Amino acid sequence: MISFFKKKAQVSDIEWLGIDVHSHLLPGIDDGSPDLDKSLSLIRQLNELGFYKFLCTPHIFTELYPNNSDTITSALTDVKNAMNSSDFNVEIGAAAEYMVDETFKISDDLLCLPGKHILIEMSYLSETPNIEDVIFKLQLSGYKVILAHPERYNFNHKSLERYHRYKDLGVMLQLNLLSVYGYYGKDVKAAADYLLEQQMYDLAATDLHHDKHLKTLTSAVTSGYLYNKLGNYNFKNKELFS
Ligand SMILES: [Fe+2]
Repeated sequence: MISFFKKKAQVSDIEWLGIDVHSHLLPGIDDGSPDLDKSLSLIRQLNELGFYKFLCTPHIFTELYPNNSDTITSALTDVKNAMNSSDFNVEIGAAAEYMVDETFKISDDLLCLPGKHILIEMSYLSETPNIEDVIFKLQLSGYKVILAHPERYNFNHKSLERYHRYKDLGVMLQLNLLSVYGYYGKDVKAAADYLLEQQMYDLAATDLHHDKHLKTLTSAVTSGYLYNKLGNYNFKNKELFS
């Protein structure tokens, strides 16, 4: 019998997003990939899922990961050199993920994604007290502010109006793909679902640190879950960073 119902196309890769704008794939400089071999293996597998460009964002967090332009450039160079002598067909670059705490300082040479987009994060436990002031001063210095994984800030789960306030301040919001798959728990997923429904996200990313993230992401992608959930959402990864 001929079915009148067309089967929904199964999209089981992530080329529709294509560009990862937040990850910890550079070796040995934060809580992400520990060494070059692991970096190459993670990049290769992410490439097989459909990512073709990686803008890596190691932590710059004074207390735990005091990175700077030198440590990040050197780790990036190691990966690039290793990829050149192998058969990789991906583009790779680096910026940083800045922890905005009391030690964070604004300067003219912060490490940015293209177009002077700066990726910032806060503690998951409490909002940085002067966050609005920092955002404003960054913008005055010409930076476009991206807040990493807003859905993961537990202190906002009962104060959803804070998310609207960030948007009113002109902050771009970046979703962690694993959040919508429940990886960080049901409250984080609920916050992500709310922000999606309100069309408040601008970007999506893996925030990938290790094999466990990769394994979960792989199942979210290859099952078709992520495409079905996010494939028609207007993320600006390609528009801003191609
Ligand atoms: Fe991150």
